[in-house]
Amino acid sequence: MRRPLIVANWKMNKTIDEALLYIGAFIAEILEEISVKGSVPARTWPEVVIAPPAPALAAVSAALTGTGILSGAQNIHWERKGAFTGEISGEMVKAAGGTYVILGHSERRTGWGESDEIVAKKTRAALDQGLLPIVCVGETLDEREAGTTQEKVSRQVRGGLALVSPEEAERLVIAYEPVWAIGTGREAQPKDAEEVSLLIRAVVDEIVGRGSGSKVRVLYGGSVTPENVGGFMARPSIDGTLVGGKSLDPAAFSSIIRETLRKKPLLKTED
Ligand code: PGA
Repeated sequence: MRRPLIVANWKMNKTIDEALLYIGAFIAEILEEISVKGSVPARTWPEVVIAPPAPALAAVSAALTGTGILSGAQNIHWERKGAFTGEISGEMVKAAGGTYVILGHSERRTGWGESDEIVAKKTRAALDQGLLPIVCVGETLDEREAGTTQEKVSRQVRGGLALVSPEEAERLVIAYEPVWAIGTGREAQPKDAEEVSLLIRAVVDEIVGRGSGSKVRVLYGGSVTPENVGGFMARPSIDGTLVGGKSLDPAAFSSIIRETLRKKPLLKTED
């Protein structure tokens, strides 16, 4: 049973004050619907994660205490500490209350030259420092049109898994985010996203074995909205979403969570 996961990637948006206003509104909007009710075990409910910019992480984590909603970072360095101006470590994220870290986002890969090797080192560091990695993969428009999506995504998944043990691999989250769909309002077709999710699972199986491909959680990201999320969530191999733009508004992000709950009926039958 894979627990659905919905992640808000705020990117470089919101000061501490703005973040706290959001959390107050978000909790008021959705907490009742996603908190554990009666005898329903927590694992049957979706996991919700908010990844604010680093300066707001401690405040957001503190504001979420006791809600079951988790927090995370958008990036870390692979070293624990040292002379790395402008960087933050996994240990620091953990100490600020973070549980997850988004790694290898396409904006980091293209804007900051993060290679598969760097993503592999960061994934290793996240696990060593007590964080759960969300490794992003995805093809550009040129690659999709050239028919090399599978090759690109397989290579990036191999990169993400390069330095992790089989046991650890099963705890990874892999987010399929086609680069052409990020922030463009042009989402992938759910059937195409499903096809790539199945490819990701097949690559994990090939590298790790032990049926791990069906244990990792695979998310879709790229122009997810309350209107289109249902189409992705109706696909059994897609476990959740990584949401950018629409996660900045507590009402829109709450609607995305509500739609996810509607489309994942396993949640209600499992106990
Ligand atoms: P978007 O961003 O939802 O604004 O397209 C998604 C992401 O970059 O994770």
